[in-house]
Amino acid sequence: MKYVRLSASTILTSVVSLSGDILTDWNAKNPYTSTITENHILTGNGSKKETRHIVFDLGKSGLNYKAGDALGVIPVTSSELVDDVLGALGVDADQIVETHVGDVSLREALSLHYEIHQATKKFITNLGSKFNSGDSQIEIRLVKRTRSSTSSGLETEQWSWSGDADDYPSNYSPTSTIIDPAHELWNKLTQDEKSMEDYLWGRDYIDVLSDFGHLGITGQEFVDSLGRLKPRLYSIASSPDFEAGTVHLTVAIVRYEGQGRSKTGLTTGYLADRISVGDGVEVFMSPTRSFILPEDGANDIIMVGPGTGIAPFRAFLQQRKVDESKGRNWLFFGDWTKDGEFLYREEIESYVEDGTIDRLDLAWSREGPSKVYVQHLMEENGAEIWNWIDNGGYFYVCGDKNRMARDVHSTLIQICSQHGGMSDEDAKHYVERTLMKDEKRYLRDVY
Ligand SMILES: Cc1cc2nc3c(=O)[nH]c(=O)nc-3n(C[C@H](O)[C@H](O)[C@H](O)COP(=O)(O)OP(=O)(O)OC[C@H]3O[C@@H](n4cnc5c(N)ncnc54)[C@H](O)[C@@H]3O)c2cc1C
Ligand SMILES: NC(=O)c1ccc[n+]([C@@H]2O[C@H](COP(=O)([O-])OP(=O)(O)OC[C@H]3O[C@@H](n4cnc5c(N)ncnc54)[C@H](OP(=O)(O)O)[C@@H]3O)[C@@H](O)[C@H]2O)c1
Repeated sequence: MKYVRLSASTILTSVVSLSGDILTDWNAKNPYTSTITENHILTGNGSKKETRHIVFDLGKSGLNYKAGDALGVIPVTSSELVDDVLGALGVDADQIVETHVGDVSLREALSLHYEIHQATKKFITNLGSKFNSGDSQIEIRLVKRTRSSTSSGLETEQWSWSGDADDYPSNYSPTSTIIDPAHELWNKLTQDEKSMEDYLWGRDYIDVLSDFGHLGITGQEFVDSLGRLKPRLYSIASSPDFEAGTVHLTVAIVRYEGQGRSKTGLTTGYLADRISVGDGVEVFMSPTRSFILPEDGANDIIMVGPGTGIAPFRAFLQQRKVDESKGRNWLFFGDWTKDGEFLYREEIESYVEDGTIDRLDLAWSREGPSKVYVQHLMEENGAEIWNWIDNGGYFYVCGDKNRMARDVHSTLIQICSQHGGMSDEDAKHYVERTLMKDEKRYLRDVY
């Protein structure tokens, strides 16, 4: 069975204006069902990455946004995964369970309201009650034995269990019980943080139930141990004035192998594999108050956005073009290779040609013998970057938080120190206090 969300709240809280438009306060709890009008792969044929351009129609929703905002997407879990997990649990899919959204069928709970594509520590920990009840000992019994040699080396012995409780082969003392291996595994996982982390990495509930499914977990117990399904945010890659009535996203699809099976991220798998043009997807706006274009279009902007970090900068460029902003635009983009992962290549090149982009620096990390990253190109252009910033320019970063944004941050401090004639300490204060907090000219959208 395929689930399509159509929340009662959507219907109940919508009001229709005199012009026939539906007006409402759409939000995460009352999302708008947007129709997908485009969904194609941006990465090249030979690329090992799958980054998609997805367009959402805002219809008559009355939804508004500005360049820099993000879109919240509410995913639906794959029906195959739901079926397989229900099968592994061995319970009735139609039974009613209590959830944070009220009483619903177990199938609906797993499809729409909880995350089952990645197992959690809470679920494993909660299994403790199953072992404490004394069920962890399992009885074993020898049913067949074949001995190919005896002490004299001449005889062989075959033995099969007759079915009588006291039937054992010669010289055999029966051990009636052993500890359930699942209990030993559970002890290890709950006593050692690293083992738990390693075990959970890449495992969904089909994997976990293959180790623990025999413990007799009820549908309600299962649901009570799951994490609630959370929407995912995506930086909007369009300007509402340039791409009227639509929202564009740039989505890197998460695909990996786990326990011998192909898996996807919940939302990216949904958008890539289960949603086609014409389908409805529940969305809501997540406006930003900080990651915004300068009020005065005459200010220069520097944008650093490798990978999917390009998304809000496509929106910024479209907006600056529509606004005919006088300030200069400098884009640092990068990814693996120019042929495979130059996202929005034609558009970016046309912006260079028509003067919307004043400077473009491209960092390809997997083309030459050594990695070229955006911050390496920033270093090469340190004096010019300092000039733009010293002249009132804005500095924006979007994309990977843990590696890229961290390194770009230290490179910016280094540039301010070297070219702005500051000590390392003063440059750090200038970037982290003056630019970031006081003047709000160093803005980040990192994840
Ligand atoms: C403000 C903001 C803006 C964002 N903008 C964008 C954007 O423009 N484009 C974009 O693509 N994303 C963006 N993201 C990230 C996005 O929200 C999601 O986090 C991302 O798409 C993954 O979601 P998912 O549901 O598909 O994956 P999930 O189901 O959340 O799975 C991701 C998890 O899968 C696991 N995993 C990943 N790889 C492996 C592996 N090899 N082996 C085992 N496990 C693995 C990891 O635990 C990882 O955390 C943004 C995030 C924020 C907060
Ligand atoms: N926080 C997160 O969970 C997070 C954030 C961003 C992306 N991702 C995931 O990563 C996948 C691809 O994301 P993406 O397409 O946006 O690309 P990405 O992984 O951010 O990579 C874009 C470019 O940045 C380079 N890079 C890697 N480390 C860097 C560093 N320290 N400094 C500067 N550049 C660096 C990459 O090079 P190399 O790969 O060649 O090193 C690549 O050329 C997706 O599955 C996405 O979900 C996760």
